[in-house]
Amino acid sequence: MKNSLRLALVALSASAFYIVATPPALSAESAVHSLRGIDVKDEGQAPEMRVNPGKRPGSQKPIARTFQQQPPVIPHATDNFDEITLEENQCLTCHGPEKYKEKKAPKIGDSHFRNQQTGEIMKQMSNARHNCVQCHVPQMDAPPLVENTFKGLPVKAQK
Ligand code: HEC
Ligand code: HEC
Repeated sequence: MKNSLRLALVALSASAFYIVATPPALSAESAVHSLRGIDVKDEGQAPEMRVNPGKRPGSQKPIARTFQQQPPVIPHATDNFDEITLEENQCLTCHGPEKYKEKKAPKIGDSHFRNQQTGEIMKQMSNARHNCVQCHVPQMDAPPLVENTFKGLPVKAQK
């Protein structure tokens, strides 16, 4: 077969496939709606930036816990701190066992020294506690995203 003929045949079979594979036009009722609820060409509105109401560490009061084993929330601002990395952890420069007295900060909890596998209490903090913000979260003055009926235990009942 000549090359040009072969090409023409390929083009023809491709267009035949296209005709068969094209879905029928959508009716008005079944038209697709975006989950965003607005037209693609309209500019979306980013929600207003929320500010952490906490101030410099050393000037804040602890926030009451809602049950005994709750990791306490962070009452102070954290915006100016460096990210926690494998090598560095700024939180420990105030809350670590060597520094907390000098910095007048609460010492990391007793449970942070427990070896998770053996249960033994170690001199060093367990590496499983390195990523503080996995459990301790700063606060934002924002309405809850979803309603809920959670009620914390009164402080007396926690003792
Ligand atoms: C410059 C020192 C400093 C640094 C850095 C720091 N903190 Fe604090 N933190 C404090 C002090 C002081 C308090 C006591 C409350 C206050 O005075 O603000 C406190 C309170 C807390 C509390 C509340 C404890 C309780 O019993 O309610 C938590 C949790 C906490 N910090 C976690 C963190 C985490 C996590 C980081 C790192 C992201 C961090 N802190 C970095 C000094 C510091
Ligand atoms: C796996 C979750 C988890 C991680 C990770 C973690 N904590 Fe905690 N933390 C807790 C819980 C739960 C408590 C309350 C029970 C206790 O005191 O051990 C607590 C208590 C504390 C307290 C209050 C202690 C007291 O005596 O009232 C401080 C301060 C604290 N953590 C700081 C830190 C810092 C700083 C880091 C990172 C180096 C960290 N935590 C990592 C769960 C965690």
